[in-house]
Amino acid sequence: MADARMNPEAPTAPDHAPTFRKDYREPDWWVRHVELDMDLDPATTRVRATLRVERNGEHDRPLRLAGDGLKPVTVEIDGEKARSGMEGDDLLVEMDRDAAQVATEVEIHPDRNSQLMGLYASGGLLCTQCESEGFRRITFHPDRPDVLSTYAVTMRADAEKFPILLANGNLVEQGKLDDGRHFARWEDPFPKPSYLFALVAGDLKANRDRFTTMSGREVELNIWVREADLPRTRHAMQALKDSMKWDEEVYGREYDLDLFNIVAVDDFNFGAMENKGLNIFNSRYILADADSATDADFDAIAGVVAHEYFHNWSGNRVTCRDWFQLSLKEGFTVFRDQCFSQAMTSEAVKRIEDVRVLRAIQFPEDSGPLAHPVRPESYIEITNFYTATVYNKGAELIRMMHTILGPEKFRAATDLYFERHDGEAATCEDFVRCMEEAGGVDLEQFRLWYSQAGTPRVKARLIRDEKANVARLQLEQTVPDTPGQTGKAPMVLPLKTALLSAQSGREIEERLILFDKAEDEIVFDNVTEPVILSINRDFSAPVIIESDRSDDELATLAAMDANPFARYEAMQELMLHSLLPAARGEEVPPADPVIEAVRRTLNDDTLDKALKAEAIRLPSEAMIGERLEEIDPDQVHRARSTLAEEIGAALGTELVEAQAIEAAGDDLSVEAKGIRALRREALGLLAAGEPEEGARLAKALYDRADNMTDRQTALMILSGLEAEERQLAFDAFYERYKGNSLVLDKWFALQAAAQRPDTLERVEKLVDHPDFTLKNPNRLRSLISNFAANQWAFHHSSGRGYALLAKMVIEADRINPQVAARMVPPLGRWRRYVPDRARLMKEALETIASSEGLSKDVYEQVSKSLG
Ligand code: ARG
Ligand code: ZN
Repeated sequence: MADARMNPEAPTAPDHAPTFRKDYREPDWWVRHVELDMDLDPATTRVRATLRVERNGEHDRPLRLAGDGLKPVTVEIDGEKARSGMEGDDLLVEMDRDAAQVATEVEIHPDRNSQLMGLYASGGLLCTQCESEGFRRITFHPDRPDVLSTYAVTMRADAEKFPILLANGNLVEQGKLDDGRHFARWEDPFPKPSYLFALVAGDLKANRDRFTTMSGREVELNIWVREADLPRTRHAMQALKDSMKWDEEVYGREYDLDLFNIVAVDDFNFGAMENKGLNIFNSRYILADADSATDADFDAIAGVVAHEYFHNWSGNRVTCRDWFQLSLKEGFTVFRDQCFSQAMTSEAVKRIEDVRVLRAIQFPEDSGPLAHPVRPESYIEITNFYTATVYNKGAELIRMMHTILGPEKFRAATDLYFERHDGEAATCEDFVRCMEEAGGVDLEQFRLWYSQAGTPRVKARLIRDEKANVARLQLEQTVPDTPGQTGKAPMVLPLKTALLSAQSGREIEERLILFDKAEDEIVFDNVTEPVILSINRDFSAPVIIESDRSDDELATLAAMDANPFARYEAMQELMLHSLLPAARGEEVPPADPVIEAVRRTLNDDTLDKALKAEAIRLPSEAMIGERLEEIDPDQVHRARSTLAEEIGAALGTELVEAQAIEAAGDDLSVEAKGIRALRREALGLLAAGEPEEGARLAKALYDRADNMTDRQTALMILSGLEAEERQLAFDAFYERYKGNSLVLDKWFALQAAAQRPDTLERVEKLVDHPDFTLKNPNRLRSLISNFAANQWAFHHSSGRGYALLAKMVIEADRINPQVAARMVPPLGRWRRYVPDRARLMKEALETIASSEGLSKDVYEQVSKSLG
């Protein structure tokens, strides 16, 4: 080893070089076991790590241990001082034997860790977040997911401030020490990658429960929170038990340790983390009661608890070989949590919600400068790839394979996958191969879904040949160019398709079409009457369908299609028939077909309320924009609010009736949640058509509400109205909940999302509110990300919305680069907007780009957005 590379004083160069998938190689050294010994203290924590390493194959390369801001105090091999040196942030240890115990000691400072990666302090706790590359902020380690080790962790800490000491696996020893300190030792028998390491120290109390697994093992379950929050953990605990049962029933997967711990923390970069046996959650995905949480919050909690629990198999027992395979665990686990929620709530409504998220977030990502395949080819900062594409489009890929194989073969394939790769770091390719083998199908062309970015577009035309008694479905597909990818091959699109009688709406035939060419024609025989096309039912393929169906046909589908998702979809298309011309500044067709369809939906007693709510909901401004070649945000806003006004004015009676149905506030049944969802949509339309009546009803709702869902509905309606009730209600809400930070987040979010001309000014002021802070990711997102998602306000013609976001990104980047980088994408859409907005958005990006000392996280997002 050259001595220059061994110089411990070598400066750390800013490293913005990409990492490529094609460069993957096995690690030079395995780490079989990790022994951690930690003297925990918020100011300075001493970490001694002993790694049992083994040479992998024949080579004479040094042991490279990644670090991030660490300085080695000692480096030893088998108890003796090692020859070692720094290269950038990494520690290189010269190795003269094939296996050794390599020990390092470092000091870290949790209370100065504002990035919330590694070991950090949050509300009196010490906790960790290691995925993807946070472990290297705690100790020197290869810190790559294909290095799997068993762990033993000894923690010492002040017994009064940190009475509870948790880590992965099982508690094997604990006891008192001198000077008011105590210790605990935890061992995790399952080999795991370093990103799944976790510890928590603090004054916590547990909601304790038990679960008996299918083979009769008893598992102790704990949800650890501040004592005052214990009553708000019930829903999460129920969700955990439901998830454990569901994974046994649907996937045959049983929990494998005797203990499962969950901890809720207030400062957390993401939703939650699946650390082995010790899941750590953003408290917003644990804490809930009817007074402070909405129906959507309750559902999100169940979904995230399930997601993290399911990772125990899809992620932990079988992990990822490298970070390019992230969707192997995330796409699959999102699919699993979506199906769990579909089973626990309403199958159709949950599917509609998931498709809405896909369209509102993933489709724009896939058509913009940050578009990337589900399995990316390169990254500068991996954290930027925890995206809707990897997660949500990744889940759609799994869902398509489920559709193609059918449930039994799919289950056989996942059984094979879990059995074959248990204890391994696997690839997306490994997963697909199991699907092929157990499913008996050829997925060669299907693999393009992993490598080709961009949302495929399908043109569908149904032509009836009366003489031959057939209907011909003509299909064409194109896959758009994306950064670095042009001239793409046709993909395999599983299209669940049906023909309905145009007269009666009766279903004539349903088929699963595997459309895998640029063009194709599918023939339906024995078609003896006029028919309507119902295509991509349940959103069986994540594509954009362009069909030439008339308003009448869509209205029939909206009223009659046996597939509830298809009814919703027909309503959306019908609304877009009216919204898109208006948003383009073209002549606007009369709204009558939409009004009639909404009336018919409201009056349909066979439809459940949650579906009704979805069906009468207008496409968001973001979704309208997504369908336009060039977006004029003012015109989009006008188009949508005009249609809402017309519906509200025409259907006053029906809407008043629909919003008046009562349900008990603590009733979380599908029916009760549907009643409240319908109230939100109906009141929203009514307030658009009759603002005074809307304000009166909303204020009355606020005053009588016995649950957060209705309270939030009332505030949302009032936030868009010029009524004195508005300020009264917002002030009352603030006074009532100022001590509850999760609810205060809603107070900020509602104002940031308000549909009113002065939202920009209000948000500019709220940035200086004493309760606003850049340090807490939830608070930052509640105000800034909600504002940036508010199309009309954010795209204010002055460009001040963009400038505000740029300022926040620059300030947040100094504190927490990961969170800052995630706020950049709204500006990255600049090419899609009318020229004056595009110019201003680009200027805001340039302001960020030229600011001093940018993190590589923000650098990557901004440079790609401008490039
Ligand atoms: N694996 C976690 C989950 O999906 C998310 C971790 C996010 N980490 C990150 N660096 N973005 O539940
Ligand atoms: Zn996950």
